[in-house]
Amino acid sequence: MGGRDEKPVPSLPPSFFEILAQEAIMGIMAFEPVGRRCIYSNALAREILDLPIGAGHERPSLALSELFPDEPRGGSRAFSEEIVRREGLAQDVLVRKRQGSSFIADVGVRYIRADGREPLLLVMFRDVTFQKKLQRELTVKQGEIHKAYAELLEQNRQLREFDHAKDKFIALTTHELRTPLAAIVATAEVLDLKLYESPEQMDEFIKSIHEQGLHLMELINDVLDFAKIRAGKMDFYIERTDVRPVLTRLLDNFRNMAEQGRVTLSMNLPGAEAFCYFDLMRLKEVFNNVVSNAIKYNKKEGGEVRVDVAPFESYVRIAVADTGQGIPPEKIGHVFNEFETVGNIARHHKGTGLGMPISKRLVEAMGGRLTLESEVGVGTKFFIDLPVDKVLDEEFYRSRPDAWGDLAA
Ligand SMILES: Nc1ncnc2c1ncn2[C@@H]1O[C@H](COP(=O)(O)OP(=O)(O)OP(=O)(O)O)[C@@H](O)[C@H]1O
Ligand SMILES: [Mg+2]
Repeated sequence: MGGRDEKPVPSLPPSFFEILAQEAIMGIMAFEPVGRRCIYSNALAREILDLPIGAGHERPSLALSELFPDEPRGGSRAFSEEIVRREGLAQDVLVRKRQGSSFIADVGVRYIRADGREPLLLVMFRDVTFQKKLQRELTVKQGEIHKAYAELLEQNRQLREFDHAKDKFIALTTHELRTPLAAIVATAEVLDLKLYESPEQMDEFIKSIHEQGLHLMELINDVLDFAKIRAGKMDFYIERTDVRPVLTRLLDNFRNMAEQGRVTLSMNLPGAEAFCYFDLMRLKEVFNNVVSNAIKYNKKEGGEVRVDVAPFESYVRIAVADTGQGIPPEKIGHVFNEFETVGNIARHHKGTGLGMPISKRLVEAMGGRLTLESEVGVGTKFFIDLPVDKVLDEEFYRSRPDAWGDLAA
């Protein structure tokens, strides 16, 4: 039942407090009340302030005001009389070192009264320059991370949009494939069961199978071509050629189509040679698509299609202008978009609506540009720009065997 066996706590020697202050991992300084001269500084305070460090330097010849920087800098406020006046902790304070440079500190201020004398001013501080710098770098990094994250989100959104468009495209093309296929199968069945009424009707059915088959082939060729360009697997043979004889020849192939569509064709070539870099086969594909569109979408009395060739910037520009219905501004973006067809895909008599997206990619792969201007009710102008100088890797510049043979085809 007895009380605890309490041993008296041994009192600490005065030297203990001295050691404590010396070894503290904060800078500690004491200033006399009048004159504010330093009467004590611990080791760390001297180290931070660039004062002589060894023992015996605890009373450096230093006035408090020497710690006040001349002017503030950065986001920190300067150590000053105002901070000293108030007891407590002040953060991010710029303190001046002996040599004039400064550092950022958290500063504690206390007034201590010993032996009934005037209160001594105690200043304690911790150098936080390094942490501040880290913090600043961290903020910058955080900003960068935020930005990268936002970019990632945007990319993700685009991918999803792309994916959706791709699904839509596949659905549309599959529909396009299925319709003629179903017609072919049905017609073949009629032929097989001999359900036709006359030899003429049989011929008609055979012809229809042939036509639908051609349409399917064209469609599949377009899709394959397109996949090839996208995968960068299409071969190019680009040569420096005068484009004038090429265009004359290509345009001649459209005389019939123009006549049938009651469209007048004309071409205006420059007097001087118009050399530029292109792949004859690919230009043929592009030019044919642009001109056939110009005739096809030009169903009005006295329709015209005009081809103008002239130098433009660093290109030879082939402008194909029609007097057709034009393309409304909100649909212009869709013309070159592989996943959107301007009209209803089922309305296309032939082709997939991939003609333009393919053409654009072909021209760009040759270092050129394909653009358009259009006004509803007035007409549309397509610009095929072919580069005058070499702008691609050297490997693309080579000759295609038997190119003019292909051109005639
Ligand atoms: N000269 C033009 N005038 C008006 N509309 C045009 C013209 N050229 C193209 N377009 C519009 O742009 C769409 C895309 O053209 P594109 O050549 O890719 O398809 P298409 O001609 O319908 O089919 P394809 O070329 O595959 O046979 C066309 O369906 C049409 O709506
Ligand atoms: Mg077309």
